[in-house]
Amino acid sequence: MSRPRDMLLRGAVLSPHAIDRVESYEDGFVRIDDDGRVASIGDWHDAPNDAGPIVHVGDALILPAFVDAHVHLPQIDVRARYGLPLMAWLEQHVFPAEAAFADPEHAERVAERFFHALAANGIGTAGVFATVHLEATHKAFEVAANSGLRIVMGKVLMDVNAPPDLIEPADRGIAASLELAERWEGAAGGRLHTAITPRFVPTSSAELLSHAGRAASQAGLRVQTHLAEQPEEVEIVSRLFPDSTDYLAVYDERGLVGERSVFAHAIHCTDDAFARLASSGSAIACCPTSNAFLGSGSFPLQHAKRADVTIGIGSDVGAGPLFSPLDVLRHFAYLDHIEPCELLYRGTLAGAEALSVDHQTGRLAVDKAADLVVLEPPADASGDPLQRFVQCVFRNPETRVVATLVEGRVVFGRLPT
Ligand code: GUN
Ligand code: ZN
Repeated sequence: MSRPRDMLLRGAVLSPHAIDRVESYEDGFVRIDDDGRVASIGDWHDAPNDAGPIVHVGDALILPAFVDAHVHLPQIDVRARYGLPLMAWLEQHVFPAEAAFADPEHAERVAERFFHALAANGIGTAGVFATVHLEATHKAFEVAANSGLRIVMGKVLMDVNAPPDLIEPADRGIAASLELAERWEGAAGGRLHTAITPRFVPTSSAELLSHAGRAASQAGLRVQTHLAEQPEEVEIVSRLFPDSTDYLAVYDERGLVGERSVFAHAIHCTDDAFARLASSGSAIACCPTSNAFLGSGSFPLQHAKRADVTIGIGSDVGAGPLFSPLDVLRHFAYLDHIEPCELLYRGTLAGAEALSVDHQTGRLAVDKAADLVVLEPPADASGDPLQRFVQCVFRNPETRVVATLVEGRVVFGRLPT
């Protein structure tokens, strides 16, 4: 990982402002300062002439690095295990893979490959589930720090209904989560964040969820979990918590629903639940490739949008088979008619909003971190920069990530010389 340096990137530039607004320059520039921040952005005619070296990216696009709002580190090697519904898939494939993280050296080796895969796919920021293991999660944070990526991560919490080597008493899990927060929250110059990470309701006791909610609010930490992914899971939750009106209420009654909470999937939710998510300031990580792969159902995008919930995208590796946000965005687009502008927004700024890191990343704007991806579209791509980005999404295999930068440092690939 190189040091950030003052440089002037020249090429076609795209930066989302909102769901329906994008800043676009056919021949544009992004000036990066010595601290790895965006110093200015605009049309090449207005580029400063006293800046550092000029790096011309040719036909490639310059856009904010992608944000994967929901992904599982230990599941990189259990991708594409097809044919089972969620609960059986977890038992048969996921839990054995996660149990191997009792060995911190295994965790370190997998984490190296995992963070490399994120960067190689143009991802600058991710919301990551580790495993229940404290030492393995420390290792994962060490690797994340060295990777140069911006990472929100948590140790998974489970205290019931999982194999004995993957559960622990609620107070021990919370104490370990707080130890991780003490060490890693805001570390690596603010690139790392910790999240309280109860896996989902079926593997949580009421005590664990209450404890988790208290810890998150007292320590001001982010929360990430799963919500209403499959009907069978929703049914289990209603049996475990018969006094709660719905799945979301189980979390809400225990202080886990708020401005810094991200809920993965949220497929089988009522309009009322979407309205409560929106009014609480919570976000959804929509995982369309995972939803298709596990047969979870189709995310009711129009309903969630009507409620005005923040919606980022997640690969949900390993239920999602591929890391590429372009692949996830293509499946997202097939949910409904999506404007090109929205596709760019969902893959970048919306994910940053979902993970509460939009003060740092998600768009190319003065004083934001220079987190960007240089993306080479298919050779015959045409149209304006946004149209060429859309062709990257729908022709993903013909698209190449040239380089991924976080805070002005190259974390994957190489910039042209
Ligand atoms: N629900 C609880 N745990 C998981 C997981 O690891 N993957 C997915 N897709 N859903 C979950
Ligand atoms: Zn998940």
